[in-house]
Amino acid sequence: MRTILYHIGRLWQYRRREALETALRGEALKQVPYLDNAYLIIDDGRIVEVGPMEELGTIDGQGIDLKGRDVTPCWVDCHTHLVFAAPRLEEFRMRLAGMSYEEIAARGGGIYNSALRLREMSEEELYQRARRRLDLLIRMGTGAVEIKSGYGLDTDSELKMLRVIDRLKRESPIPVRATFLGAHAIPPPYRDRREKYLEEVLYEMVPRIAEEQLAAYIDVFCERGYFTAEETEQIILQGAKYGLKARLHTNQFSSSGGIEVAVRHRIVSVDHLEVLTDEEIQLLSQSEVMATLLPGAAFFLRSPFPKGRALVDSGARLALASDFNPGSCPTPNMFFVQALACLRCGLTPEEAFNAATVNAAYSLDLQGEVGAIAVGARANLLVFDELKDLAQISYEICNTLQHSVIINGKWYGSNQIRP
Ligand code: NIG
Ligand code: FE
Repeated sequence: MRTILYHIGRLWQYRRREALETALRGEALKQVPYLDNAYLIIDDGRIVEVGPMEELGTIDGQGIDLKGRDVTPCWVDCHTHLVFAAPRLEEFRMRLAGMSYEEIAARGGGIYNSALRLREMSEEELYQRARRRLDLLIRMGTGAVEIKSGYGLDTDSELKMLRVIDRLKRESPIPVRATFLGAHAIPPPYRDRREKYLEEVLYEMVPRIAEEQLAAYIDVFCERGYFTAEETEQIILQGAKYGLKARLHTNQFSSSGGIEVAVRHRIVSVDHLEVLTDEEIQLLSQSEVMATLLPGAAFFLRSPFPKGRALVDSGARLALASDFNPGSCPTPNMFFVQALACLRCGLTPEEAFNAATVNAAYSLDLQGEVGAIAVGARANLLVFDELKDLAQISYEICNTLQHSVIINGKWYGSNQIRP
């Protein structure tokens, strides 16, 4: 079906496909290109034509007069853990009473707590819960998402989680990318024989997951108390052997060598970076590894915010994501992430916007598919009732549904503009 959106006030993030072949950094990160007074034609869920209103011919097909409203691409959320069994409210109360995330984890809470609950839940129930969260996230304006395993922590449960992600991928209207995160934590029963768990990850989980084609990426939580830089390197290499590209959780609480390993192996992305030395910033600035910031997690855990300004000024590639998960960021709201990126990480609204669209798409190998208004891209769009300036996105902090969402060329959710 052909749909024409016309009288678009400003069409943001309009780029030629060729311009999307590389990630944005430095000066390029500072500009969000746009077209004023535009039209956009969608056919079969994809953008097939874009231009200024004066070039629009007759409206054949369904036309929607946007009456000067602005249009942007949907958010691309390149780091989530949205498949989980249940919230962790008791841990939230413990943290409010003064305990740290790491202290709670050391007592068997945290990631392992989520694993115990997930193991008990049926695959069907897990899917239904995740599907509802995915629906919520799309209504909040996210048009592509990465989802990690890592709450199974044994072969069967990791496979169960990845099958749920695979089903979401097949049944969801937006692109879903799967990441295997078996090395999310050492399960406490393995505390005194961690090499056994590592062996299970390396020689049981990785081959099975690759064989069943259940993930595109492999991830490790490289952090004191979790996995060392040496173990991380082993896992990255084993993943590569089976065709899994690496992305890492690193530098959330300490610098423990993850950045150096990531840069040396030219992996896709290093995520978190609440703690980052000048040397590590320097390393990233000279590499093609994406620095993915998750300011929602820093906010929720009351950690220092990642130094977005220093990273951008150094010339590093930068992306933003929600980290949606029950332990460190229970919201997938990318508007909130934009606000935190500007207010607490020192980014400009344009940098934050590019980081959560073009660069996030690039980090998921989805450039030209989502994250920009380009001919051939999926028509996953946000329509704003009133957007005076891109800064308004962060200024209004959460923008709870002050927008309408179009997914594959169709309205998604109840907030729709009638033609
Ligand atoms: O990205 N840091 C490691 N993993 C998640 C938190 C997972 C959890 O606490 O359940 C994160 O913050
Ligand atoms: Fe995470």
